[in-house]
Amino acid sequence: MRIGILTGGGDCPGLNAVIRGATRAAEVTYDSTVIGFRNAWRGVMDNDYEILDVDRCRGILPLGGTILGTSRDQPFAHEDGLKRVRKAYDRHGLDAIIGIGGEGSMGVLNRLHENGFPVVGVPKTIDNDISLTEMTFGFQTAVQICTDAIDRLHTTAESHHRVLVVEVMGRHVGHIATWSGLAGGAAITLVPEDPFDIDEVCERIVHRHKKGRFATIVVVAEGALPRPGSFVIPAPEVDKYGHQILGGIGSLLAREIQGRTGIESRMTALGHIQRGGSPVAFDRVLGTRFGVAAVEAALDGAWGQMVALQRGRIERVAIGDAISSLKTVEPDLLRLNDMFQPRIPGDEHPGLPADSRARVEH
Ligand code: F6P
Repeated sequence: MRIGILTGGGDCPGLNAVIRGATRAAEVTYDSTVIGFRNAWRGVMDNDYEILDVDRCRGILPLGGTILGTSRDQPFAHEDGLKRVRKAYDRHGLDAIIGIGGEGSMGVLNRLHENGFPVVGVPKTIDNDISLTEMTFGFQTAVQICTDAIDRLHTTAESHHRVLVVEVMGRHVGHIATWSGLAGGAAITLVPEDPFDIDEVCERIVHRHKKGRFATIVVVAEGALPRPGSFVIPAPEVDKYGHQILGGIGSLLAREIQGRTGIESRMTALGHIQRGGSPVAFDRVLGTRFGVAAVEAALDGAWGQMVALQRGRIERVAIGDAISSLKTVEPDLLRLNDMFQPRIPGDEHPGLPADSRARVEH
């Protein structure tokens, strides 16, 4: 077979593990050729590519980012986009293209599939928000980076008796915030799945400080939402591909907390550091498994399918099903998060009812 491969959307630790896994499986096990397109669909449309082989992939396993480069460009953003993609299939004699990307990239792959193109998807994102896969590679690395940062921020918060607000990524779900908040021992973690009330947040902080804990770490997901009427955050800007540019809630929150409680507050936004650097072992292994499985899906002609992690095994699911809704944080984790918040007088049983899992539209 001749298989094209590309990485789309934001970069993510583990992308190179997928490329390496796919290339090795194709070349060594299945006597096939992998053509790597640069900068996602832009490379397909502009015929910017390189032939990948085991030699080219030597040493890339621990590297962050993607050796192929990435972009948010895609064929449906161009009038002649589909024609140019068709030309790439013909020119290179491609039997398939494996697209590695997040929710937006999976949407593009699904539309290409509906237009008759043989495609296979590999879910990638630090946000871990793609449905039907228990985990995406990159997520564990991002969580570890945030946890390390929170560990460090504890010492400053405690030395200065401050509130430190840590803004983490995750788009419209709170997986990174929940995991890193729990792992880093944050006093308060705010996620989109459970809109917050600023009065209540401040009350909890004041109560905690009165009880003698003079430092508080607040982890806030970039997509966290205040309850209506409680605190206003400006609507996010949108880039030329319709992608919301999130971020900024951390500084608004720190200012509000300081203003309302009188406790000195500071903010740290971890930003793209969360996507940078070497993937942790879990992400290297998951990326490798996904890469090999994607080649095998292509060999089986499993068009329009995405590889996924389910109960520890690699399975295939329809891309259309995977993108029909975002994967939100499990109720059990939301409940755990709630249990570790500072309690205030009048608090009922900690935790949320089991059916409180929010459905996030996108
Ligand atoms: O989807 C991954 C992610 O890092 C999000 O958490 C974040 O909102 C977004 O990408 C940032 O995108 P960009 O790199 O385009 O600023």
